[in-house]
Amino acid sequence: MVANMAKRPTVARTISALRRAVAPWREAGERIALVPTMGALHDGHLKLVSEARSRAKRVVVSIFVNPTQFAPHEDFGSYPRTFDSDLKALAAAKADLVWAPTAAVMYPEGFATRIAPEGAALAGLEDKFRPHFFGGVCTVVAKLFLQVTPDIAMFGQKDYQQLRVVTQMAKDLDLPLKVVGIPTVREKDGLAMSSRNAYLSADERAKAPTLHRVLKASAARIKKNEAIERVLRDGRAEIASAGFALDYLEARHALTLAPVASRKDGPIRLLVAAKIGKTRLIDNLGV
Ligand code: PAJ
Repeated sequence: MVANMAKRPTVARTISALRRAVAPWREAGERIALVPTMGALHDGHLKLVSEARSRAKRVVVSIFVNPTQFAPHEDFGSYPRTFDSDLKALAAAKADLVWAPTAAVMYPEGFATRIAPEGAALAGLEDKFRPHFFGGVCTVVAKLFLQVTPDIAMFGQKDYQQLRVVTQMAKDLDLPLKVVGIPTVREKDGLAMSSRNAYLSADERAKAPTLHRVLKASAARIKKNEAIERVLRDGRAEIASAGFALDYLEARHALTLAPVASRKDGPIRLLVAAKIGKTRLIDNLGV
């Protein structure tokens, strides 16, 4: 055995195997953290795991490419699946357990329930372009919470609307856990790490940091009290001229995601989504 080879985490693939692994931890009163993922792990995911590691005795990472949050025309079939290298990375990150159910375990024949989030889930951002998305996310995340019974669950600010929606769902359903948001991990040039960055050609990859650059410049101008609409108009133009097809660049209330007219309306979050070639990228930044 190689000296520095970390112990592989246990992999549970059925509800009963998961319960067998978690029950002794619960009985011993150990604090459990859950990191929900769809795999193809990168340093952004691994930051969530290390933050979980520092807050809980036991760290469970779920890997499940959730079919119910993809529309038929989206990339469910081609979404990157890299289970072996994910396991190696999770061994090094000292995860205790990987929860990797099949679609048949998560959604058995006859499954007929779906959570329908409102509020921030209907803000007119991701929901406008992916109307099925938050229903699918909430349904699977609620199931993951009930399956794993964590004390805390880690989510990235990278998917900011998702973080707000899941936080609200946990509150509204009295789920006995705390949702923790972790700042976005970026490449050196500012591009937010994402499993979908693997789709980018060299030319697209070179243009991709435009999104973060525009967010930063826009936040700085809004902080100097420039009119929000003018700042957004310039930002939209810059993103389009870099070759993106823009879905949205918006300034919203950081908690409710409601539209804001000025800084007086509350803490502001800038959110962007745009396609370059076939790849859809999202990012966001606080003002
Ligand atoms: P996935 O895209 O795999 O992301 C899993 C978690 O990692 C999410 O909470 C996401 O916000 C976080 N994350 C992704 N990139 C990050 C980055 N650059 N910095 C910090 N955190 C980052 O989001 C999902 O999966 C799914 O919707 C899921 C919640 C698992 C439900 O299926």
